[in-house]
Order: sequence, then structure tokens, then C-alpha cells
Amino acid sequence: MNFTLRPLERADTPACARMVVNSVVGERYGFTAERMTKTLTEALDAGGDLFVAVQEGKPAGFAWIDPKGAFSSAPYLRLIAVDPQIRGSGVGAALLAEFERRTEAVGRSWCLLVSDFNLPAQAFYERHGYTRCGALPDFARAGVTEILMMKPRVPGTP
Ligand SMILES: CC(C)(COP(=O)(O)OP(=O)(O)OC[C@H]1O[C@@H](n2cnc3c(N)ncnc32)[C@H](O)[C@@H]1OP(=O)(O)O)[C@@H](O)C(=O)NCCC(=O)NCCS
Repeated sequence: MNFTLRPLERADTPACARMVVNSVVGERYGFTAERMTKTLTEALDAGGDLFVAVQEGKPAGFAWIDPKGAFSSAPYLRLIAVDPQIRGSGVGAALLAEFERRTEAVGRSWCLLVSDFNLPAQAFYERHGYTRCGALPDFARAGVTEILMMKPRVPGTP
């Protein structure tokens, strides 16, 4: 599949919001397109680091990262989502690789949280070298445990 990566722009936010809303995460957390569009727009306005994969001129997937978002010291993947129509075709892998590329000089491990019910995403991260390192019960929602997953940089590096 052909796509390019570029910084996310305000015009992309409604399409990217729909990718989140139309997912197990959006369904379980009750996100609305309006609210998620506002969240992404506010993130951009605050100088957040968001990038999008574009295919045939349209957003195919996006990621929101915070280079020191994990305990103010390690890179944190805040959000990643792909257009439901093209999940499973490599866009997510490219976005994850871009997260790691952009933050390769920060901290010692890449970090993220994934909900206990989101088994496809857990499998996706495991295939890309992330392992379970902890559990945060009731962290984002009562009754849901967020799983902390980490991927170490090459052992022996500073
Ligand atoms: C998790 C997510 C970002 C992965 O993106 P993606 O573009 O589907 O990922 P890829 O295509 O790179 O890889 C998906 C893997 O599942 C397989 N797959 C096959 N069909 C699939 C489908 N319909 N949906 C998802 N994955 C599928 C792919 O073959 C691939 O396997 P591989 O890693 O062994 O090659 C995406 O599925 C998504 O947006 N999920 C909903 C939002 C979400 O849960 N975000 C994570 C919150 S922590």
C-alpha cells in the first residue's frame, strides 16, 4: 500500500477522530466524533506531536506521541488509530515505526498503555516487540485495566 507520512493538520482532525470513534476503544469509552475532533484540535493548538499517514490525499491513520510522556523521561504513544477500512494493511506498523524513529534518542524504552479488552492492539504491539510491564486498574475508566507495555532500545545503549 502506498502512503506518505506528514504532520497532522487541523483539516485532518474530523477524519482522524472518526478512526478512533469507530474502534473498540471509541465504542467502549463512548467517544463522540465531535469530542474527539476537539481533543485532537486542542492537542495541535498546544503544540502536540501528531502525524498522519496519507493515502490518495486522505488520512489513512494517525498517531499522537509525547517524546517524554512516560514519567517525564521516556517516549509515550498517546494514541494511534487507522481507518477501519484499511486496518491490517501495514499503516499501523508504519506509524509505530515513525513513533520509534522520532524518539530514538529519548529515554531507554518506548512506552504505551493499552486497554485490557483491546486484544487486537495488544497482539499488534507484541508483534512489534512490546511486552507487558504493568497493570493500572481503573486508570482511565472504572472496571478497565490499562496495560503498560514497553519496548527497550537496543540493550547496552546509554
Ligand atoms: C491497532 C491498529 C492501530 C493497528 O493498525 P493496522 O494498520 O491495522 O496495523 P498493521 O496493518 O500494521 O498490522 C495489523 C496486523 O493484524 C493483521 N490483520 C489482518 N487483518 C486485520 C484487520 N482487519 N484489522 C487489524 N489487523 C489485521 C495484519 O496482517 C497485521 O499482522 P502482522 O503485524 O503480523 O503483519 C489498528 O488496528 C487500529 O486502528 N485499531 C483501533 C484503534 C486502537 O485500538 N488503537 C490502539 C489503542 S492502544
